Amino acid sequence: MTEELLYAGKAKSIYRSDSPDELIVVFRDDITAFDGGKKDVLAGKGEYNARVSARLFELLEAAGVPTHLLAVEGPGRMRVRWLTMIPLEVIVRNIAAGSLVRNYPFEEGSRLDPPLIVIDYKDDTRHDPMLNDEIVLALRLATQAELDELKALALRVNEVLNGVFADLGILLVDFKIEFGRDAGGRIRLGDEISMDSMRLWDGETRESLDKDVYRFAKGDVLSTYARVADRILGDE
Ligand code: ATP
Ligand code: TYD
Repeated sequence: MTEELLYAGKAKSIYRSDSPDELIVVFRDDITAFDGGKKDVLAGKGEYNARVSARLFELLEAAGVPTHLLAVEGPGRMRVRWLTMIPLEVIVRNIAAGSLVRNYPFEEGSRLDPPLIVIDYKDDTRHDPMLNDEIVLALRLATQAELDELKALALRVNEVLNGVFADLGILLVDFKIEFGRDAGGRIRLGDEISMDSMRLWDGETRESLDKDVYRFAKGDVLSTYARVADRILGDE
């Protein structure tokens, strides 16, 4: 059966499934940065990201965070609940890096305590501008109660992931997550959590273990993703 492609994004493709409330997400080998200005294909990258995402979603689900994951269906393929996505990029930051140090006088590498939550509007044509609660409410992207829930969930995700990475000797610098509403109206974590959407530093050397290796040509991207995936997945 040829599956119907519903949407092809920059790194994943979304297909209709045999169930009306479920989708198939295919993690492709495409990698992009700088709003799509830099692009490449790295064979195997999609599978690493899918396996890491699935493992982290399982751990989060077990810790009480509702996610879209239903099953892993072969290499790079995930069956998920079909969510009505909320067009927000919810970014949690534990250590100052990236756009935070470009745009504000934070010292790169300094600890943010408590962690910062930054919410961007997911709109590539506008280059994902930063929002505040008032703009989210005025655009009717979410209600105040939903915003409060998103932030509480984001902090819970951060606690769980910080635990996972501390045990691996990796610093979770920051990460981006997306949420949506399921068929019953419940807010769930969607999309992915992978080396493309997290900033990870080696705890000893502070070397980048994520998409920054690609963004800033810091080394071999695929072998970095493979090493991190092995550390996260252990003996799987
Ligand atoms: P970006 O890279 O800025 O996140 P994109 O659209 O290019 O944008 P992809 O990851 O390639 O990103 O595409 C995946 C798309 O699928 C995203 O638009 C994401 O919001 C959407 N999505 C993720 N999970 C679900 C889900 N459970 N139900 C419906 N849509 C989803
Ligand atoms: P940020 O520092 O805001 O952007 P950049 O990496 O472009 O300097 O990114 C913070 C974290 O969120 C980082 O781990 C990458 C992730 N992220 C995404 O995955 N997608 C996005 O569109 C954005 C803006 C960030």
